[in-house]
Amino acid sequence: MSLTRPDLASLPAYIPGRTVPGAVKLASNEVPYGPLPGVVEAIAEAAAGSHRYPDMGVVALREALAEAYRVDPARVVTGCGSVALAESLARTTCLGPQDEIVYAWRSFEAYPIITATAGAASVRVPNRPDHGHDLPAMAAAVSDRTRLVLVCNPNNPTGTALRRPELDAFLDAVPETVLVVIDEAYREFVTDPAVPDALQTYADRPNVVVLRTLSKAWGLAGLRVGFLVAQPAVAEAVRKVVTPFSTSAVAQSAALAALRQGDEMARRAALVVAERDRVAEALRHLLPGVPPTQANFVWLPLGAQAAPFAAVCEQNRVIVRAFAGDGVRVTIGTPEENDLFLAASAFGRDALGRDAAGLDHVPVNNTFGVG
Ligand SMILES: Cc1ncc(COP(=O)(O)O)c(C=O)c1O
Repeated sequence: MSLTRPDLASLPAYIPGRTVPGAVKLASNEVPYGPLPGVVEAIAEAAAGSHRYPDMGVVALREALAEAYRVDPARVVTGCGSVALAESLARTTCLGPQDEIVYAWRSFEAYPIITATAGAASVRVPNRPDHGHDLPAMAAAVSDRTRLVLVCNPNNPTGTALRRPELDAFLDAVPETVLVVIDEAYREFVTDPAVPDALQTYADRPNVVVLRTLSKAWGLAGLRVGFLVAQPAVAEAVRKVVTPFSTSAVAQSAALAALRQGDEMARRAALVVAERDRVAEALRHLLPGVPPTQANFVWLPLGAQAAPFAAVCEQNRVIVRAFAGDGVRVTIGTPEENDLFLAASAFGRDALGRDAAGLDHVPVNNTFGVG
C-alpha cells in the first residue's frame, strides 16, 4: 500500500532547463540581461522586512498591474509564477477524473502535470503540421465534461502564434460555461500585429482568463511572479485556491520596481526579437522546417534527431532543451551566446548527417564563419 497517490507513479516530473557550469544556458526561455534597474535595490529593501508576512491581498502590486494593463484590480490575481496560477485554475474548475482539461499538444509541458495533479483528465489535441494549435479541433474536443481549455499564445515550445480571426472563431465556438485560459507568457515578444493581445481583446469575455508572467520579458524568473486577469467572480474563486502568502514580500516589491521600467523592458524585448529573427533566419539555412516564432525561442522539429542534436550542442558548451523524439527548443540569448549556438548547431547538423536528417546542403563554414 503506497503512502502517496498511486497515479503519481506514472506522472512525468517537470524537467527544468539544465544549468551546466561553463556552458551557455539557452534552455529556460529567460531573458539574458539581468534584473531591470531598481529591482535589486527593491529586493534589498523588502528583505529588511522579511520577518513579517507579505501583504496577502497583494494590494499595491495588483493596483500597479491593473493600472498598467487598464483593468479593475478586483480582476487581478497574482501567484508564485503563472504556472502556480494555472495550477490554481485547474483546482478552481475541476473536482475529479470526470472533469476534462483540453489543451494542444505539444504545448507547455506543465499542462499535463497540472491536469493530473488536479485529478482531472487530459484531452490533448495534436498541433497542426505547421506546429500551431488546431483551434477547430480543440473546439470540437470540448464536451460537456470540459471544465478548462488552455490556449498557449505564442505556443511553448513551438513559438507559433494564433491570429485574431481564428481566435475569435474559437472563442465564439466554446460554450460560455467553459473557462478558456489564454496563456500569454511570451506576449512581450510578439511583433505580428495580427496576433491579438488577449488582455485588450478578450479579457472582457465572461469565460476568458488571461495568464501573464513577469518571469520572461520582465526578467523576474527567480522571484516567481505571475498574474491573471479574469472576471471578478472567477478571480475571487481563484484567490480562495491560491496558497496563502504565495506572492512573497520580496517578489511583490521586485515586481513593483520592474513595472516602473516598462520602457527598458520593451527595449530589451526588442533586442531579443531582433536576435530571434536573425537566429531563426540563420537556422532556416541549416535545418529543415523551422517554423516562424513570435516568442523568445526557436523550435527545431528534428524528430528522432532532437536528443542527439542537443547532445552535440552540449558538447559545444550550449545547453538547449530537447523534447526527445520531437524537437529542440532554443532560447534566444545575447548575440554572443546565439553565435555560439549557431556554431554548435552547424556542428550538430554535420554530426547527425545532412541526408539522414533530411537537411539541405548549405556549406556550414561559409554561413557562419565557424570551422
Ligand atoms: C507557456 C508558459 N506558461 C507559463 C509559464 C510559467 O512561467 P512562470 O511560472 O515562471 O510564471 C511558462 C514558463 O516557461 C510558459 O512557457
